[in-house]
Amino acid sequence: MSLVPMKQVLNEAAKGDYGVGAYNVNNMEQIQGIMKAASETSSPVIIQASRGALKYTNMVYIKYLAAAAVEDNPDIPIVLHLDHGNSLETCKQAIELGFTSVMMDGSLKEDSKTPTTFDENVEVTRSVVEYAHKFGVSVEGELGTLGGIEDGVGSGEVKLTDPDAAVEFIKLTGVDALALAIGTSHGAYKFKAKPTLALDIINEVVKRIPEVPLVMHGSSSVPPELIEVINNYGGKLEKTMGVPMESIKEAIKRGIRKINVDTDGRLAMTGAVRKYLSEHLDAFDPRSYFGAAREAVYQTVKEKMIGFGTAGHAGDYKPLTIEDMKAVYK
Ligand code: G3H
Ligand code: 13P
Ligand code: ZN
Repeated sequence: MSLVPMKQVLNEAAKGDYGVGAYNVNNMEQIQGIMKAASETSSPVIIQASRGALKYTNMVYIKYLAAAAVEDNPDIPIVLHLDHGNSLETCKQAIELGFTSVMMDGSLKEDSKTPTTFDENVEVTRSVVEYAHKFGVSVEGELGTLGGIEDGVGSGEVKLTDPDAAVEFIKLTGVDALALAIGTSHGAYKFKAKPTLALDIINEVVKRIPEVPLVMHGSSSVPPELIEVINNYGGKLEKTMGVPMESIKEAIKRGIRKINVDTDGRLAMTGAVRKYLSEHLDAFDPRSYFGAAREAVYQTVKEKMIGFGTAGHAGDYKPLTIEDMKAVYK
């Protein structure tokens, strides 16, 4: 099997009424942990790389790590997706590397900080759609802005998506999936108490354009157990709350199909490394503590695959290639 276009994976999720996690990756252990979870639960999966991940992996490593995941898991549909692309140029780079999906986050300017106008967002997103579809590559857009700032990405300002504007945006750009801002934010520090998300926005958009899958960013649950492991072994993270699994399940019921998760994987790995090294003061083989980190990612992601309803769906359909998608877009 080759890497699969995201459009197909999300359309199939819509047919089956489940969500597909999009897990951020930067290294081999994250990819292996995620793939072990996908293989064990028989789940289609989206692995996504941010611009930071492209830089960290010097691009070529992420390309071949994804190829290794495909070769090692021939029965699992795997999408390789660019997370928060900031320009047509970045999206072109990802497409050249072999990504089967890109996100053009036109809700922010190229600096990934300053909010854009609706028209600016439409213009840049449409240019990416025009380019990417020629290669059979799927495109995710974003309208509205999330809270939180991760490594300098984000305006820090929450601007919920206006459903009317979302419908207009989809029509004008031709995106394959749209990320909505419904009150979540990136990173570990999302909420002080159990959040109330603006889930009605999902219904409003689905009612009018049911055929375009919707995306929820900032979907980590920031489980207290993961924070506790970090803090019990020398870390110092504040107690916070993420997006509870029940809220994600409710969002999926209403039409969210792609669920972005980065922070929970980071927390799981960090806790595992801290714990391992604290308990094995004589350890110096990286395979021991990175192995523990890989196992922690696997456990965390497996729980999500079951919770999002992705488990059991890997064999539901015959995966398309981006070559097949070229014909579909034509
Ligand atoms: O949405 C942002 C993701 O959490 C990626 O974070 O840019 O630090 O890789 P990163
Ligand atoms: P979290 O920080 O909640 O994991 O969100 C990740 C994300 O939205 C990546 O695009
Ligand atoms: Zn995001």
